Amino acid sequence: MTSTQSTLITNIGELMTQDPARGTASVLRDAAVVIEGERISWIGPAGQAPQTDEMYDAEGRAVLPGWVDSHTHLVFAGDRTAEFEARMAGESYAAGGIAVTTGATRAADDFDLTRLLMGRVAEAVAGGTTYLETKTGYGLDVEHEARSARIASTVADQVTYLGAHLVPDGMDADAYTELVCGEMLEAVRPYVQWADVFCERGAFNEEQSRRVLAACRDAGLGLRVHGNQLGEGPGVQLAVEFGAASVDHVNYLADTDVKVLADSWSGWDRAAGTGERGTVATCLPACDLSTRQPLAPGRQLLDAGVEIALASNCNPGTSYTSSMNYCVTTAVLQMGLSVQEAVRAATYAGALALGKHVGADVDGQRAVGSLAVGHRADLHLLNAPSATHLAYRPGMPLTAAVWRAGVKVR
Ligand code: NIG
Repeated sequence: MTSTQSTLITNIGELMTQDPARGTASVLRDAAVVIEGERISWIGPAGQAPQTDEMYDAEGRAVLPGWVDSHTHLVFAGDRTAEFEARMAGESYAAGGIAVTTGATRAADDFDLTRLLMGRVAEAVAGGTTYLETKTGYGLDVEHEARSARIASTVADQVTYLGAHLVPDGMDADAYTELVCGEMLEAVRPYVQWADVFCERGAFNEEQSRRVLAACRDAGLGLRVHGNQLGEGPGVQLAVEFGAASVDHVNYLADTDVKVLADSWSGWDRAAGTGERGTVATCLPACDLSTRQPLAPGRQLLDAGVEIALASNCNPGTSYTSSMNYCVTTAVLQMGLSVQEAVRAATYAGALALGKHVGADVDGQRAVGSLAVGHRADLHLLNAPSATHLAYRPGMPLTAAVWRAGVKVR
């Protein structure tokens, strides 16, 4: 019989659980957490903690759920520093840069691509990320999309098929869309849980996006959409129409887009985290700053009743950072979110965007993004007494320790 090691993390100054079941009392003082194996087995006042095999003294510092990064593009090779420099000199971002990364990614061998991906995931984990989605989208032919999906599935928690990222040079857009919906989809299917489409001028138009979403839905994949990044367009409305779990970027929204998103959450009790969920609007502030786009209107969306997530969008073109601390800082300082709202968006709502929030599974046992008994033991200890310091001390090295599925990984 195998015994499960238990660890008490005690003397926690502020435990931000993000557990909707606790309502307004979701932030605990002088708390302790017990980890058993990969799960949380107890949470309560430090003075009442049970006996465990090991003990970790948090020294009065803050503990949060590990970040859930629900939007990254980490399977790539090559470098786009020159494009970034040109942008900082006044050029604007265009989808065409994806082709540069596609060339470098195709040229890399499996070993290098895997090594690069693992290095990027390790960087993210070192910054407090404990659950991470990543996408294909720099292969753009059957062989290389399938390879990206296969490699991603060995490293990331969840994988999204983004064959519909850019029409490769020299290909007819409709013929390529057919490929994305047919042979390419079949080739990636064993490795992915989600499908996505870059619905934007210069990428895929409404009709092509619709075909991709319908084919991927029919193949049993969950859906997400890159929408309204570079201008107003049909992305948000398509995402809601198809019941996508998230629509990501959301920089340019018409009033009708906000309304459609808000309506998708009309059957949801936000405080309790119960009811019929809608389409999460995922804001990507690091990308917005790196492309000099207006920041997504996170405050307006929250006020309209939309669940918003924060994600890094780590990729070589528009956002070469996996720092969720930075995204949370920016959301507070520049998007008008409170610290509590920003942390929720980067933990609980990220899990919601990936279908891993509490209540998503039959028994709730595998939930991430919030701290409660039975949830995966993904914790982020800050070098600070409260999460407020993420905004109060921007850019400081505040990640002190990280537990991922019960294992201390930093
Ligand atoms: O999410 N918008 C589309 N895809 C990425 C950028 C990809 C690239 O330029 O390499 C994004 O920003």
